[in-house]
Amino acid sequence: MGKKLSSPQGLRGKVAFITGASGALGSDAARALHARGVRVALLGRNTDKLETLARELGGPEKALAIDMNVRNLASVEAAAKSAVEHFGGIDIVIAGAGMVTTELVEDYSATGFVDDIDTNLNGVWRTIKATLPCLRESKGHVSIIASLASFIHMPEMSAYSASKAGVLALANSLRLELDGSGVTVGTIHPSFFESALGDALTNSPLLSRASGNFTGLFAPVKREDVVAAIVKNIERRSRVAVLPRAFSSLSLAPGLGQRVIEPYLSHNLRRGTEKLER
Ligand SMILES: NC(=O)c1ccc[n+]([C@@H]2O[C@H](COP(=O)([O-])OP(=O)(O)OC[C@H]3O[C@@H](n4cnc5c(N)ncnc54)[C@H](OP(=O)(O)O)[C@@H]3O)[C@@H](O)[C@H]2O)c1
Repeated sequence: MGKKLSSPQGLRGKVAFITGASGALGSDAARALHARGVRVALLGRNTDKLETLARELGGPEKALAIDMNVRNLASVEAAAKSAVEHFGGIDIVIAGAGMVTTELVEDYSATGFVDDIDTNLNGVWRTIKATLPCLRESKGHVSIIASLASFIHMPEMSAYSASKAGVLALANSLRLELDGSGVTVGTIHPSFFESALGDALTNSPLLSRASGNFTGLFAPVKREDVVAAIVKNIERRSRVAVLPRAFSSLSLAPGLGQRVIEPYLSHNLRRGTEKLER
């Protein structure tokens, strides 16, 4: 530990704490970091999946599965402690655990809205709170998996969008708090890609319609490109990555970005049925 992530040795020997490692993006990110010599703590609730991945990556010396729920601070703190006891520290955090409940604002159940916020926003806060002492020691980097939804707010995604806009705000505050500490903070903002969560999004009728059935601007991005962006974000300790790049400039002015894209979304929504009723 201690060497810069961008040192000639690259990431070799570093330790990454990856939430959402049982999911599509998190497991691929773990594989990509493992291929660069990073030792990985694989966090999530599905221990069968995590243990299978840990075995695939060479077992305990290289990869450790740890049961953890981002909705419980004690659980995340215990996971961070286990990772440190096992690997000796943490250099990289990928805050990737996430969920989506697609509903109209008026149709969310009492818990539905809260679940998304508690997982995607509060869960990222818990992950950072639990690992920050280690990151300060290693002068490490945290990569928060946000979304294009941090900037572009679509129908039937209000809770998810609010949570992802929230983690962008959290990251911006945190970056200033960590100024001079050597710890760096990046956010990753992908559009749709294939995964269980991605499937839930593409099954939403209004979202499908607004996005032009996920064509053109909203055509899915390749998961491997998102993984490459995460690795680059860590290696370069960069601030932000947006996929596809067509949205990069809109992301610099989120309010303006929403205003620019909204007529396109509204046009798509009105086409055909003309009504916002499902
Ligand atoms: N797919 C997309 O279109 C898309 C687009 C932009 C951003 N993203 C973001 O990318 C990240 C990864 O998502 P994905 O697409 O790879 O989806 P995924 O395959 O469904 O993975 C979701 C991951 O989150 C974990 N998770 C959910 N709730 C958790 C909890 N309470 N405690 C611990 N882990 C929890 C799941 O682990 P367990 O269930 O095993 O605990 C799983 O590993 C998410 O933050 C998502 O918002 C996805």
